[in-house]
Amino acid sequence: MSKFLKQIHVNTLPGYEVVISDGLIKSCGEWLHKYFLTSCKIAVISDSTVGPLYLKDVVDSLTTWNFMVSVYTFEAGESRKNFTTLSNILEYLAAERLTRSDCVIALGGGVVGDMAGFAAACYLRGIRYIQMPTTMLAAVDSSVGGKTAIDLRAGKNLAGAFLQPSAVLCDLDCLKSLPRSVLLGGIAEAVKTGVLCDETLFSLFENGNISTDYGEIIARCVAYKAGVVERDEREQGERKLLNLGHTIGHAIEKCSGYTTPHGQAVAAGLAIIARSAERLSWTLEPIGNRITTCLAELGLPVVTRYTAEALADAALSDKKRSGEEITLVIPKKIGLCELKKIPVSELLPVIEAGLGV
Ligand code: GLY
Repeated sequence: MSKFLKQIHVNTLPGYEVVISDGLIKSCGEWLHKYFLTSCKIAVISDSTVGPLYLKDVVDSLTTWNFMVSVYTFEAGESRKNFTTLSNILEYLAAERLTRSDCVIALGGGVVGDMAGFAAACYLRGIRYIQMPTTMLAAVDSSVGGKTAIDLRAGKNLAGAFLQPSAVLCDLDCLKSLPRSVLLGGIAEAVKTGVLCDETLFSLFENGNISTDYGEIIARCVAYKAGVVERDEREQGERKLLNLGHTIGHAIEKCSGYTTPHGQAVAAGLAIIARSAERLSWTLEPIGNRITTCLAELGLPVVTRYTAEALADAALSDKKRSGEEITLVIPKKIGLCELKKIPVSELLPVIEAGLGV
């Protein structure tokens, strides 16, 4: 019997359900069979970290419900989110003779979701895929909204496609055994959501404790993101708000050669832009210290060892740049942010203003 069950509809065209519950790894075949898919071939894509933990249960459940299942795993890590892995997955799908009525499952964290989603978007010009996030970061953010991508040498997620999944099955049991640093990476994205739209959510994190009520945290983040994605699927406007902390966060990732995990980089990016916004008098209330303290007490980074020059240089190859302007997400107060376009020449002083605690 599930202890927590929430279903959130994402009203895109076509729309889909995000199911957040316990036990979904073991019952995925039943869920897919009853609600989302008729009998078909399914290629489950996973990585070397997640595969050994959950592939057996997923395959058993799918075969019990008469799906024809095959499995492809690749070496875990952001450095594998590249053309070589994409090409290997595409060749695998072709060798397995998946057709347009078949389906891919992304079983893993953000890298697996992005890779398998992009492969599904490319293969036969697009086949269905299901997201099964196994990390907090994938659960609160990357499994929902249809962004798929790989990294290029010039920067993160620079080649990709929008393709909404056919469903998202988020099993809360996967989160219980996550190493704390991996869990915290996802919590950083949840803190971001609190700053964007939900002071109650933000306050949950302020005492430095990570609530074990992960279902509620994920549901709040997904409900907000679903609304944003429904109104702006292709990131023409409002969806850019979800990039809060990401311009500097992606720059930190790039400067570190992608050894700094995404969530930790976003935490530092969020703290830096919050301090900078306050010092430049762009905020409605003093939030720099509040956001910095919240993240630091959780054990997330709030500073970076890279110089403002190195970060600005890295940020200017980010896709948030548009010609000679770049759009920043500025926190005004907890629960309210706005987009601000600045000339690229002003990015350096903005970053400089926020570097020191
Ligand atoms: N991760 C931000 C977005 O999906 O738009």
